[in-house]
Amino acid sequence: MNGVKKITDGIYWIGGSDRRLERFENIFPIPEGVSYNSYFIDDEKTAVFDTADISISDQYLENLKDCLEGKKLDYLVVLHMEPDHCALISTIAGLYPEVTVVGNAKTFTFMEQFFPESASYKKLEVKEGDTLSTGKHVFKFVTAPMVHWPEVLFAYDEVSKALLSADAFGTFGALDGGIFADEYDFEKDFLDSARRYYANIVGKYGMQVQAALKKAATIDIEMILPLHGPVWRKDISWFLDKYQKWSTYEAETDDIAVIYGSLYGHTKSAAEAVASLLREKTGKNIKVFDVSGTDVSYLIGEVWRCSKLVLMCPTYNNGIYPPMEAFLNDMNALGVQNRIFALAQNGTWAPVTVKLMTEKLQGLKNVTILEESLTIKSALHKSDCDSIESFTESIAKA
Ligand code: FEO
Repeated sequence: MNGVKKITDGIYWIGGSDRRLERFENIFPIPEGVSYNSYFIDDEKTAVFDTADISISDQYLENLKDCLEGKKLDYLVVLHMEPDHCALISTIAGLYPEVTVVGNAKTFTFMEQFFPESASYKKLEVKEGDTLSTGKHVFKFVTAPMVHWPEVLFAYDEVSKALLSADAFGTFGALDGGIFADEYDFEKDFLDSARRYYANIVGKYGMQVQAALKKAATIDIEMILPLHGPVWRKDISWFLDKYQKWSTYEAETDDIAVIYGSLYGHTKSAAEAVASLLREKTGKNIKVFDVSGTDVSYLIGEVWRCSKLVLMCPTYNNGIYPPMEAFLNDMNALGVQNRIFALAQNGTWAPVTVKLMTEKLQGLKNVTILEESLTIKSALHKSDCDSIESFTESIAKA
């Protein structure tokens, strides 16, 4: 039972962590690893909530076998049909052919797309408000469409008051021995990863997360069991408050991010000067990022964290410096809202990036683009001091 953790009476974690995967979804770097959570219900009927990613299949199947202790598996409940959680459905159906697979109509449509053989599985289709009793535990299903796929279900155990929340309340980051958030210093160990996970994967669906949070507010929740990262049993309201802020696009802090692109270091010098003056003028925490050296997923995480963003870059081929353009495109794709932007450009003969960045940012809702921008010509000079002073003053006052 090495890989199994007791969550509460009759509910066990049977997941695992992957520390070898370089990029989650083959997009987002995860040097901190990731966990794939699955929950086993040991009751008059046995059940598993979601499977796991193929990368942890050996450990996962061993955990499940240990938990079953020779009993049959009655239910496999599928809350989310993305392959990092459903990869082993077919394997489990093969090993435990008597199992009934539980999901909603969309779950089964997607299941047949991924696993055509699932057409012949024993199935139980559920909808909003339906319940599944395993004996002592009674799980009520709550739909959470587009958090972040359309078929997503939450399940609430009326006995333990545990909410099985699919991807919601999840985070990047392998688990280091503990399964509960209160076994870690979550703010230090996981918060940046949780924000980056939320912003990049769920961030576009703030309205749908709000709808799910409203449903959750009507339930007495004592534990949250997500599909990634630690389980919450203490200070749940602290994490719910983060989700409230993130899903309404409210900045988590009043910090300022200075994000620059620089071919030869001149725009970087301007960015350092801007950061220095901003810290003096505002007393706020200022974070400086090189757009070329920082994976865009981390910058997106900073967008969710900071209230003001200073974007500084050169003109390149009469357009926006490409890494900055990619970042702007990602902000548009994720529907960033409610931020203040200040823009600066560098150009040797025809700087146009303030105009072009403004056009990109105008695609976002409820953002303020400060009227005052900064232009430097090729390199930073003493003669730029007044304009940098005035530029940072306008940011501080905004
Ligand atoms: Fe963790 Fe949307 O899958």
